[in-house]
Amino acid sequence: MDGRDLVRSVQAVGSAGVAQGLRTVRAAWRRKRADARGLPPRGAERARTPGEVREAEPGPGGGVVRFSRSELRVLVAVNGAVFWGWDGAGPEPSYALAGRCPEPDPRAVLEPDKDGGWRVVAERVTVAVSRHGAVEVRTPGGVPLRRDLPPRWWEPVGGGPARWMQRSEVAADARFFGLGGRSSGPRLRDGGYRLWNTDPGRAFGPGDDPLYLTMPVQWVVADAGTHLVFHDNSWDGTITLREGTEGAGSGHDRPGVSVLRIDGGPLRCWVVVGTPARVAHVWASLTGAAALPPAWALGHHHARRGFGSEQEVRRIVAGYQEHDLPLDAVHLDIDHHDAHQVFTVDSDRFPKLPVLAEELRRDGIRLVSIVGAAVPAAPGNAVYDAGADRDAFVRDASGEVVRGVVWPGETVFPDFTHARVRQWWGGLYRERLAQGFSGFWHDMNEPTSFAAFGEATLPRSARHALEGRGGDHREAHNVYGLCMARAAYEGLRELVPEERPFVFSRSGWAGLQRYGGTWSGDVATGWAGLRASLALVVGLGLCGVPYSGPDVGGYDGTPSPELYLRWFQLAAYLPLFRTHASGRAGRREPWEFGPEVLARARVALVERRRLLPYFVTLAHLARRTGAPYVRPVWWGAPEDRALRECEDAFLLGDGLLVAPVLAPGVERRTVRLPRGRWYDTATGRAYEGPGQVRVEAPLERVPVFARAGAVIPVRGEQGGLELEVWAPAPGHTGGGLVVPDAGDGWDEAEIERYVVRRQGRRVTVECERDDGPGAPSRAVRVRGLDAPVAQT
Ligand code: GLC
Repeated sequence: MDGRDLVRSVQAVGSAGVAQGLRTVRAAWRRKRADARGLPPRGAERARTPGEVREAEPGPGGGVVRFSRSELRVLVAVNGAVFWGWDGAGPEPSYALAGRCPEPDPRAVLEPDKDGGWRVVAERVTVAVSRHGAVEVRTPGGVPLRRDLPPRWWEPVGGGPARWMQRSEVAADARFFGLGGRSSGPRLRDGGYRLWNTDPGRAFGPGDDPLYLTMPVQWVVADAGTHLVFHDNSWDGTITLREGTEGAGSGHDRPGVSVLRIDGGPLRCWVVVGTPARVAHVWASLTGAAALPPAWALGHHHARRGFGSEQEVRRIVAGYQEHDLPLDAVHLDIDHHDAHQVFTVDSDRFPKLPVLAEELRRDGIRLVSIVGAAVPAAPGNAVYDAGADRDAFVRDASGEVVRGVVWPGETVFPDFTHARVRQWWGGLYRERLAQGFSGFWHDMNEPTSFAAFGEATLPRSARHALEGRGGDHREAHNVYGLCMARAAYEGLRELVPEERPFVFSRSGWAGLQRYGGTWSGDVATGWAGLRASLALVVGLGLCGVPYSGPDVGGYDGTPSPELYLRWFQLAAYLPLFRTHASGRAGRREPWEFGPEVLARARVALVERRRLLPYFVTLAHLARRTGAPYVRPVWWGAPEDRALRECEDAFLLGDGLLVAPVLAPGVERRTVRLPRGRWYDTATGRAYEGPGQVRVEAPLERVPVFARAGAVIPVRGEQGGLELEVWAPAPGHTGGGLVVPDAGDGWDEAEIERYVVRRQGRRVTVECERDDGPGAPSRAVRVRGLDAPVAQT
């Protein structure tokens, strides 16, 4: 036990009682013993590299290149994505891929390259394989985007999974993004990033790494082009990044380097090249379209650990109503359960939950329930008994059911990597629906099991079905939350076929978006936590999970009124807009911070409600195109190096640029604008990008810019959908897509396409229809026509 472990164990004792503390000590010993028995000790290993090239055999989309000690399969898919896998690894089976591997591109051909190497030439990329097994991905013009050096494996002499290492080089000017939710992002600086979903066990800030949702998905953005690289392997590993340096024209550039070390499993990888929009699109076509949240989930949510009773929930809701603050959902944390047991209700404190739910629903407010992954190990508990009957719980290598510790005390863990278990679990949401819940908040599913020392999760030797292939927790750990989300999503599709499921999950992996979104987890209260909140949303969006957001105000402690307000103002522009905090934290209701904060929070809430049709449109576009709602400012111009460095602003869809305030005492700030004309939506002033502007950021609001020519669907005063159109700059046109939506259900919404033209002082808006362009059937408000234009 080291010092940190001791602190953790003492904290566990302090927070959940002595008995729970002792359980965490016992669980830690059990875990240690299980692994000592269930995992072979790491003995002698033999290192291996691919060796010299021998021959190559063309195949669909590429072929196989054989080396003396391994072979490499290269495949270019019709969507332009490149796959390669060593040692016979193919694209399937995969937890990340949405369906089957895409079709190979019949035009991609394998041909000899110089120096005895081979290459696959396709329309959008060339993949060159050197004589010793380096793989280079180049643009069609021949510019290298990445070079993966020959890998190295270490194979246990006595048999067992080989660990491996791969070093890759990218351009000296490249910047790295992604890797799931990283508090220190969005730009990933030099250092090691572990790939192992982890509950940090306390509120986290920048520098706490890894967190709950990691994935081996990197974006590399360089002058030569943008690409995404995904190592399809869920084992524990580390990526070490080092940005390159340029030799100022001396020819002595030092490339950017990324070194990936993984403890086992296949060495296989996807590379997608193109504009950011294209990369995101192809990535979504590989890993699946994002689930569409119901419209209410794009409103404001209020959560709180420690809602003590139905009366307290009513009191909070009444507070929102009295203060004229829009509210769309209330979340109930574990305290509404009977002794913290999943799928139960404390009937003393919540005796008539369905009645409360119905009352709230009449006021347009939905109830969302926490759902933990762990089941109390208590015969007599209905979920435990049913799971035990079905053999649903994870066992260790000796066949014993694995016991851990979570909120209810000793627990067991469903094996969500088994279709049969997912199906059973998905059916359990029937009880939640009967209690009146409309949405589900998955927690503790890294999975977390409290431990006084060692890792706070299941033993690595724990056995999992892995869809019938069989394996252990080393492979299953990172996909556990993903499979739990799938269980809920599929169960809800059956239970309430007419509604869009609303699921968001603390942990997950590549492909989570198919089932729902995520949130920051327990972000620490403080300005650093506020910055980390934005980093997480941007990074997760790039990795394909577009719906996320932080605990507004931070999870622990008491934010100053200013910090709370700035957090609120940021989150009003993020997909999941939710206040939440621990039971020991200070209050988070907008009226608890004085009349000024209340008035300003109301402005943010009202603006969010006005923008709801825009958020709904962005949700549809995320589903159809893979583009996240929240995008880094370099999205449309990755070649603009200054934009790549910019981490304190973001694009919300195509139309808006939000520049939140992320530091105390700031009432003016600089904003870096991409090319084109941008309007400060508050002052109406226009600026010509690219460039940097300094604008007012008073406590009343954060700066938001609209792109000239943008069409933003907004909610009009009567509740109907209206178009806010920002005048194109003279000589330019604009336009945009609007997806009106009934708010829920599966009817395919028809996309409206608008074109905006400007002639002198006249702006016209046309809706493109099958029978030709026509006047929009919606009210249009043109803005920015008289804007004074300032130079940047
Ligand atoms: C975890 C969650 C947090 C929740 C708490 C109690 O820490 O991240 O949001 O309040 O568990 O359920």
